[in-house]
Order: sequence, then C-alpha cells, then structure tokens
Amino acid sequence: MQLNGQEIKWAQETLDRVAHKLERVAERSKDKIPYTTLHGVHDDKSGEEIGWWTNGFWGGMMWQMYALTGKELYKEIAEDNERKLDACLMDINRLDHDNGFRWLPTAVADYRVTKNPASRNRGLLAAGNLAGRFNNRGNFIRAWNDWGPDDHRGWAIIDCMMNLPLLYWASEETGDPRFSQIAVSHADTAGKSFIRGDGSSNHIVEFDLETGEMVKSYGGQGFGEGSSWTRGQSWALYGFTLSHLHTKDPAYLATAERVANYFIANIPESGFIPVDFRQPVDVALEDSTAAAIASCGLIELAKLKEGRQSRIYLSAALKMLGALAEERVRWNEEEDNLLEKCTAAYHDQEHEFSIIYGDYYFLEALMKLNGRELFIW
Ligand code: GLY
Repeated sequence: MQLNGQEIKWAQETLDRVAHKLERVAERSKDKIPYTTLHGVHDDKSGEEIGWWTNGFWGGMMWQMYALTGKELYKEIAEDNERKLDACLMDINRLDHDNGFRWLPTAVADYRVTKNPASRNRGLLAAGNLAGRFNNRGNFIRAWNDWGPDDHRGWAIIDCMMNLPLLYWASEETGDPRFSQIAVSHADTAGKSFIRGDGSSNHIVEFDLETGEMVKSYGGQGFGEGSSWTRGQSWALYGFTLSHLHTKDPAYLATAERVANYFIANIPESGFIPVDFRQPVDVALEDSTAAAIASCGLIELAKLKEGRQSRIYLSAALKMLGALAEERVRWNEEEDNLLEKCTAAYHDQEHEFSIIYGDYYFLEALMKLNGRELFIW
C-alpha cells in the first residue's frame, strides 16, 4: 500500500485533529461507557445496560489513543471500561456472539499491550462462551439470545465475522485449535450462505436446528429480504479480510475481495454511504459507520494486494474517509462525538445520530493510514 505525499499529509493532519479533540473528550467522559450523544454529550451504558453489544468500543478508542500518545489517562479509562464489563461476563443472559466486539477491544487489547493475566482470563472466558454458541449441525455460531416470543436458536448474522478473531486469538494464546476450528467452520458457512453471487450479503440467515439446512434469509437491520444493508456489507468485507489474515486461507481473501468490489461499485459519487444499497431511491438515509468500517477493511486489502488493485482499494477508502472528515465529523471540541449521520437500523424510528463504533472505526482507519494502529481484531 502506498500513499502519495498529499495523502500522507492529509492522513497525518486528520489524525492530529482527531487526537486533539479526543484528548478533551476523554477527560470529560472518563467515567462513562458511551454509545451515543444527546445534545453533544456522551450517554453512559455502564449501569443497567452493561450488556449492550457496543460496550467495548470506547475502551478500544482509548487503547488506540494510548498507542498513539502513551498518555496514562487513556490506559486508565480503557482498564476501567474492561473492569466494568465483568458484570456482563458473569451474566449468561448478557453474553452472546458479540463477545468479540466487547472483549477484543478491551481485555484482549489490554493483554496484548500489558500481558496482564486478569485480561487474558477475561478474553478466554469470553472466547469459551462464544465457542459454546456453535451449532455443529449447521456449522454456524448462534447470534442472539431470545427476546419475547422470537426463537433465535437457528439464527446467524453476518456481523459475527467480526467476532471470529476472538476465537483465532484464543487458539493462538492457548495452543488449542478448537477455537479457530469453530471460527473457520462458521466463516465457511457464512461464505456459502450469506454472500450472494454479486458479492452482496444477507444480514440474517436462519438454519434448521437439526438438519443444519438453510431455512431462509431476513433483511434484518436493512431495508428488507434480499436487500443490501451497508453495515452488514462492511462487516463482511472487513470480517473475511480478518479471517484471511488469521488463517492465510486464500478463499477468505477471494470472498473479501468479491464483497469489496461490490461495495466499491456502489459507493455514491458523494462518498456518503446509504443505510442500504437497495433502499428506495427517494430515501437519502445515511450510515457513516458503514463507511468507516468498510474503509478499515479496504485499507487491509490494499496492504495485501499490489499495484492497481491495491490502489483501487486504497482510493475507495480515502474517498469515504475524506467525505466523512470534510462533512460528517463534528470537529467542534465542545461536542463528544466525532461522526454524525450514523444509523443503527433502517426501520428504526430514529436515524442519523452519533454511534460510538463509527468513531472507533474512523479512528482505527486513520491509525492504519499512519502506520500507528494497535491491532485489535
Ligand atoms: N452488530 C450489530 C450492528 O451492526 O448493528
């Protein structure tokens, strides 16, 4: 991957601006685990809602900032986030396939930096629970627990590709291949049952619990069945890239590139990513998180490839990140969020607000471009 002089300058300056703002935000939000902002002020999910799936990203941002600056405050905030998550680790109802999102950017990151044995313990407990969600008839990891009358025992979702690195890490750490064997089985199923011929992805697939056959797909957080929820596409893009990085299997790289090429072909001229690539043409809803996550995956692909293909991936990432930096970042240091116009789900009542993982992946992408990233996944 080769950035030209102008791109290097932009990446450095943009990361500097982000770091400058985050120094003030971290001080203000040091006792919280934020998800979104209300009137520019971070909320806090560290109480009753400690099980919320995004509760690792704030810690991850702090570890990235610690890698960049070495300032103790960031490490202390990240450690606090990790300790607070213990309430979730001890509650079976709050554990699900998103254990990777919760503990890779917190406990595992901590362990990678400090070799703290308590963090290793947390990471391995989370990985063991994630592995226990594997259905060995359908070769998939069950996504969610059940709420109300819905039965989710046969449901898997594309997002889980981002949780698999917790299993790859657990195998590397323990020398026991069972964890990565489960990750590989799930990734193989996802490649077959989620990724369509054109490189787009289903969000949810239901499998028969006994035969393991695919029953049907659901639109999930996107527009509808058969649509193309953009955050799901970005989880697939980055997730298959990561499975390739961990296993070196060329099939995962081929899948990641198929998803990437589909994604790139659908990036609008503006560089702003809709909530669903197949939403009605008169709907202008955006999701900045999809742009930031896909950019991270594309930068990794650019590093894996050479020449023209590497440039195509890098240029697409720079286009989206440039559009975000230009018009979708709240550079005002009085407000706590970076990105605006993030959307959790197409059919939700509310759209286009700030979401912590949008900020996390925007920071991670800038760290990658500057060669400063702490590897989290
Ligand atoms: N993993 C859930 C989401 O992306 O909204």
